[in-house]
Amino acid sequence: MTHAHITTWVIAFILFFVSLSMQKARSPKAKMMQMILRLFYLLIIATGAMLLHMLATLPPLYIVKAAAGLWVIGAMEMVMASVKKGKSARIAWVQLAIAFLLALYLGLKLPLGFHPFA
Ligand code: HEM
Repeated sequence: MTHAHITTWVIAFILFFVSLSMQKARSPKAKMMQMILRLFYLLIIATGAMLLHMLATLPPLYIVKAAAGLWVIGAMEMVMASVKKGKSARIAWVQLAIAFLLALYLGLKLPLGFHPFA
């Protein structure tokens, strides 16, 4: 399940950058790409929820991990919205970087799946 989770967010990141460049180029297919990206957001959440379901109890760090993951998705949407409106996306990018590093660190630190920092 951790493999499915990692696969979904890696693909989502690729789709995010493709979608972003299509949006910047004002491509007519940008909307469709964004819908596929949003489908991947749901898959990230579903695989994350399945990982949570494997646990008998819910330690606080897992709640922080899930919140960080949702924050990553929220920040990606903020970047996309700012680019669409032609506004500065700097704050959204900073949030995306912080949330991503937090989700990555906690995901790898927590005991399911791979644990390089253990
Ligand atoms: C784009 C957003 C996300 C990123 C970059 C991310 C990243 C990661 C990474 C790197 C792992 C470690 C996998 C492993 O050790 O094999 C992980 C595990 C996990 N993720 Fe996410 N995740 C994201 C979103 C979410 C969401 C939205 C949820 C909850 C709904 C979630 C819940 C979990 C859980 C429960 C684990 C297992 C932790 C453990 O190893 O014990 N993640 N995630």
